Amino acid sequence: MSFPQHRPRRLRTTAAIRRLATEHRLDPANLILPVFIREGLSEPAPITSMPGVVQHTTSSLLSAAREAVALGLGGIMLFGIPATRDAVGSAGIDPFGVLNAAIRDVRAVVGDDLVVMSDLCLDEFTDHGHCGVLDAHGEVDNDATLAIYAKMAVSQAAAGAHVVAPSGMMDGQVAVIREALDAAGFTDVSVLAYAAKYASAFYGPFREAVDSQLDGDRRSYQMDPGNRREALHEVELDLAEGADIIMVKPAMSYLDILADVAAMSPVPVAAYQISGEYAMIEAAAANGWIDRRRAIEESVLCIKRAGATMILSYWAAELAGWMREN
Ligand code: PBG
Repeated sequence: MSFPQHRPRRLRTTAAIRRLATEHRLDPANLILPVFIREGLSEPAPITSMPGVVQHTTSSLLSAAREAVALGLGGIMLFGIPATRDAVGSAGIDPFGVLNAAIRDVRAVVGDDLVVMSDLCLDEFTDHGHCGVLDAHGEVDNDATLAIYAKMAVSQAAAGAHVVAPSGMMDGQVAVIREALDAAGFTDVSVLAYAAKYASAFYGPFREAVDSQLDGDRRSYQMDPGNRREALHEVELDLAEGADIIMVKPAMSYLDILADVAAMSPVPVAAYQISGEYAMIEAAAANGWIDRRRAIEESVLCIKRAGATMILSYWAAELAGWMREN
């Protein structure tokens, strides 16, 4: 009962039969475009380690948001880079701070045609670059940080975010954010929880993208890349705390985690193809070592195959354009 009766190649003989038999294909509606907006910028500023990605001005951000709607993307994830930073990340909760202003501006342009998501974390806003505030010993203070996250969540929801996305890996963050949103009347604002977020070297280019001040690393709050079981524990906690969507991050080196989470999660699962994953493919393609378009399409398709319903990718708009061509 094997060869020659069974010839799997039969279903690969023509493009039409391959298309018919394919189990997973990409759809712009499941893609989320991460974008950076920098306060006080007069022209979009290229990010050297992420060729093709920029720090936006308000006007270039709004063009990108309009384009995202036209391309049928699912969502946009906003990251803000403030002009001034302090120890407690005050600009993050300022209703007129760069991120909250951008949420308001984007929402005014896209209405409900695109899901507006905001990064809910302190690292872009603190002068030390950590995702939370520090205690007297210079350690990240989990519980003191939660109180700030609660205020940030309410300020982002008030600005018009459909979804807030806590990415700081503080224990209990989803619960305090859910509670704060509900208390302020934002019961329909969703929480996309970065549940299994690893302390990854692949975040490197993001540090340039947000002009991060971080000296050191995030290993005391982000997960150890050697751990698999722990991801399910993090997911279970976030689900119990009220997460609407669960995220695994990074994506490409963590497809086993993504598959584990997709197998057990009762809510949609998102994956973030991060800055270093983008940079690696762009760099190899720039050297002529791989076929750029095929590598991009394959990388994102495989994240979907592993179990992601939603994928954040810096190529989201370009991918959607290609899908339209196909
Ligand atoms: C934290 C945050 C980071 C990224 C998204 N949110 C940086 C970090 O955790 O160090 C990285 C995204 C990327 O690398 O593309 N606010």
